[in-house]
Amino acid sequence: MTDALIATAQKARERAYCPYSKFHVGAALEAVDGTVFAGCNVENASYGGTICAERTAFVTAVAAGHRKFTRIAVASDADEPVAPCGLCRQLLAEFGTDLEVISVGAKGGRKTWRLDELLPDAFTGADFMEDA
Ligand code: THU
Repeated sequence: MTDALIATAQKARERAYCPYSKFHVGAALEAVDGTVFAGCNVENASYGGTICAERTAFVTAVAAGHRKFTRIAVASDADEPVAPCGLCRQLLAEFGTDLEVISVGAKGGRKTWRLDELLPDAFTGADFMEDA
């Protein structure tokens, strides 16, 4: 199961558009109903316009109507597993910090965290919205 999610992330990595960094990243986000959404990093000549693989997968899933997720797998060119950047952690935390985050390196190593380990004391809508 986890292997299939990782394979999807690895496949998505091949679609990365990263002419500037040349660092390919793929992600696969699994919704509670089992649907999987893939994403890759998409860079831009205006570097700040770049979107990471994790956020690409997340916005794709939300646009398709999903709001509850179980796991996200990340695969990059780095030898060792990379952890999602701070911006991705914040975005992923929107619908729950119990998300399992699995990352694999190009050498095959694997790391797993819960999102609330990567983003402790997350700021969420519950901090200022009564019905969040
Ligand atoms: N990147 C991701 O897509 N996900 C990560 O977890 C780390 C960084 C991308 C952003 C940029 O296109 C490239 O990797 C180098 O930072």
